[in-house]
Amino acid sequence: MMTRIALFLVTLLPLAAASDVGNEGWTVPPFKCFGTTAVNKYEMTSVPSDLSGITWNPSTKTLFAVNNGDRMIYEIEYPNKLIQKWDVKALTLDLEGISALGGRKFAITDENPVKITEVTLNTDGTYSGATTLVQGITPKAASNLGFEGVTKIGTTYYAVQEVSPAKLWKLESGATAYTDLSGDLEKHATYQLKSIGGLTRGGDATDELFLMAKTYTGTGRDGSSKYYQKGIIRYKISDGTILERFGGEMCNMGQPEGLTFWKDDTSGKIRMLMVGETHEARLYEADPSCTDAIGSITNNMATCVEKKVSTATCEKTKADGGCPWTRCDKDITDHNKICTDDTPGVTDCTETQCFNRCNNTLVKGNKCTHWAYDVAEKECYIFAGCKNDKFDADYTTYAMEDPTCEKTRAKAPLGCEKRRCDKDISKHNKICTDDTPGTTDCTLDQCEDKCKKHTDFTCTTYAYDVKEKECYLFETCEGEKFDEDYSTYVLRDPTCEEPRNSTGGGGCTQRRCDKDVTPHTKICVDDCPEAQCTIDQCEIYCAQTTFTKEHAEAYCTHWAYDEVDKECYLFYGCKGEQYDDDYTLFTQSYGERTKLQGKHGKTIAKTPTCPAKSGAASNVAGAFTFLAAAALVAV
Ligand SMILES: *[C@@H]1O[C@H](CO)[C@@H](O)[C@H](O)[C@H]1NC(C)=O
Ligand SMILES: *[C@@H]1O[C@H](CO)[C@@H](O)[C@H](O)[C@H]1NC(C)=O
Repeated sequence: MMTRIALFLVTLLPLAAASDVGNEGWTVPPFKCFGTTAVNKYEMTSVPSDLSGITWNPSTKTLFAVNNGDRMIYEIEYPNKLIQKWDVKALTLDLEGISALGGRKFAITDENPVKITEVTLNTDGTYSGATTLVQGITPKAASNLGFEGVTKIGTTYYAVQEVSPAKLWKLESGATAYTDLSGDLEKHATYQLKSIGGLTRGGDATDELFLMAKTYTGTGRDGSSKYYQKGIIRYKISDGTILERFGGEMCNMGQPEGLTFWKDDTSGKIRMLMVGETHEARLYEADPSCTDAIGSITNNMATCVEKKVSTATCEKTKADGGCPWTRCDKDITDHNKICTDDTPGVTDCTETQCFNRCNNTLVKGNKCTHWAYDVAEKECYIFAGCKNDKFDADYTTYAMEDPTCEKTRAKAPLGCEKRRCDKDISKHNKICTDDTPGTTDCTLDQCEDKCKKHTDFTCTTYAYDVKEKECYLFETCEGEKFDEDYSTYVLRDPTCEEPRNSTGGGGCTQRRCDKDVTPHTKICVDDCPEAQCTIDQCEIYCAQTTFTKEHAEAYCTHWAYDEVDKECYLFYGCKGEQYDDDYTLFTQSYGERTKLQGKHGKTIAKTPTCPAKSGAASNVAGAFTFLAAAALVAV
């Protein structure tokens, strides 16, 4: 009897230890169970920039991350210890997704051309058994907009197409083509998923997929208005319904691209790890015994705060150079035209006089905040506020003071001196104090670092008191104003404002305006060489473009160029400027525009397009064959 029990135990134990994909013993609890605070917020620096997908491998109890820049796979012990890496350049052109299949076998996806490849990653950094399943979808994915994520449940593969359209695809075992699972997700009844960055399964669940929606339209916090958000979507495979969404830290990630879940052996908790470019990582935990229901997550955790679309109000003072070719809209802004060219020498004025009038005069009873001066005519406007400032051929507008600081330590080591956000109205945390010098206080480096790692809220701005070694962290900087003791810094400058310089450099690398909210055209694409363009052409196209749908003087103000794919975006204004791994962003002033038009003409001579394929192409080929045959006869 004893022997039989012992034998039974011996056979049972290895089985339990070998729990692997499809047999992990857990599913993803309702989103509410993950709470309201990330338990870890860090940079997964063991993967170089361009982190684009991640999977937990139950058999090694490690994470496997992919990088679309160097096309390598990285094995990491949570949170950030590099174990091994594999160079898979030979297998992929644009590595975007990875999913553990059991043991050391993985599936990886290529964005372009679209495909899923199975591969075994050996412990020594070599790989074997690489097999590409099916390549290509119908209709064909737009360039650089193919599969962003992959997962396998049972014998079926699921993959997600990023955009245009965002769509879930399915590949049954042995099938020779991907089939459309979801249709265009932007047409989904619940949330309109416009762009997807990642896809994963949820433990042993067989009817659920988790999507990392980079952009979707959904009802916002006030329950009525709809706006673009980011979030994790729980998708039911059998009927295509969306059961719930999770916003949280994902709202604040620059470019979320990877998601994975696992059960931590020590704590027994289910972990949800979201990663994104460059190597952002955010971890939430849930207790599997949690009894909340699916869909019970609070609105605040489900949704993102509506992105404030910054008004283009001129914030440049005389010292900053002002805003050339701009004037506040006098139809809707309180103003006085105080100098005119009616009687030169009498009714006109100098620039200094114009400034002084703003400094000393009320405008219709309110403080003068902006003044605009026309150098040629010596005319002057003073304004109370500055609404809808836009192109004006004659005026330069100046702000009396810059209401927001927006200086990074890298660009301005002293930050914005004697300034601090208003702590009564800005969400904040006083993280270092002078209560116990040497213990509760901190250095400026530490203050900055605490801002980067803060988990209670996303810290965008920090203020430091050099004398007392005190530090404030802020979520947003409301009511910024004079403060005797503090200097204020932003982690990231939210606006680029760098033109191309005389040696062809300049601009802001890895930045692009948000194309979902900014009027734009993608004028060059990498579909074929004829549709691509050089950086010089991109700049010239900006000079030759007016967004007439906006208004007659809506001139291209920003352009973004992708050096690798030779792609070009043109923008009118720049809303929601954000991180983008591929693009460099440039501003273009009206002066530069006029200069470029002088050299290259006012309109685009020929819009870059791919040559027509079908009929026309074969006719050319036919004609060529005919000529060749004629030539042969002649010889
Ligand atoms: C603006 O006006 C104030 C008060 O009249 C004066 O003290 C200040 O010097 C003026 N600023 C400039 C730059 O002239
Ligand atoms: C132009 O920008 C590049 C960096 O993009 C910089 O190295 C170079 O010094 C700049 N040249 C001028 C003339 O400012």
